[in-house]
Amino acid sequence: MNQIYEKTMKCAEIVKSKVDFKPEAALILGSGLGEYAKNMDVKAELSYSEIEGFPVSTVAGHDGRFLFGYVEGVPVVLMKGRVHYYEGYEMSDVVMPTRIMGLLGAKKLILTNAAGGVNLSYKPGDLMMITDHISAFVKSPLIGPNLEELGTRFPDMSNVYDTELCDKIRNAADKLKVQIQEGVYVQCSGPNYETPAEIRMYRTLGADAVGMSTVCEAMTAAHMGMKVCGISCITNMAAGILDQPLDHKEVQEVADRVKDTFEKLVTEIIKTI
Ligand code: HPA
Repeated sequence: MNQIYEKTMKCAEIVKSKVDFKPEAALILGSGLGEYAKNMDVKAELSYSEIEGFPVSTVAGHDGRFLFGYVEGVPVVLMKGRVHYYEGYEMSDVVMPTRIMGLLGAKKLILTNAAGGVNLSYKPGDLMMITDHISAFVKSPLIGPNLEELGTRFPDMSNVYDTELCDKIRNAADKLKVQIQEGVYVQCSGPNYETPAEIRMYRTLGADAVGMSTVCEAMTAAHMGMKVCGISCITNMAAGILDQPLDHKEVQEVADRVKDTFEKLVTEIIKTI
């Protein structure tokens, strides 16, 4: 049997044995956006450390647990704290939580992250709906024996960010009178920020925002047939754009500044999901 599939199923079974909840949507929270849970009628919580074999995040400030509950009546599973590739985990472990949320029944996935602005017209504090991504600079999460039970060997990636969900994001933003950017997100491995030359390259290649997550999760969810959408919080201009060094503190401060708007937007999206 495929080892990754076996491990994923084992963890999914542990979650199911501890929590009786069938989510419709899954939500992954990025850095600084972790307080979204207060907008949710939480019915159950499960710390990642209670799931044997589950990757546990090592980043300070990344609280690792699943929350199960309702947002505007919609059953949602929320990941408070994700696992990053730069922590040293195998890609298959980084994306295992996404697979588990799909196996619990979530048909839709909302991805969020903090990102650097590569597009020169962006500014810190902007929100960007992800329309497409560039995954070419990190290992594909689908390398290895295919998990036939979940999806096909050569999955199509022409429409990872679901057209209908993207329309729902646009409508939600319109309704709340929140201006959002739309653009392409490139995932880098991290943990170091990029160099100015790398950022110029990413801009030339068509990227609008850069970060260290999300794309691997989006690809995994698309592989298993989930409908995916994503929103980046542009917390800083990427390296070399402004005459100042990049700092994780700035990322957290800006995420903190826009979190109310971000949270309202996510709730409005879930309402219509
Ligand atoms: N680069 C990569 N990841 C990030 C950045 C950045 O500039 N800002 C927030 N996450």
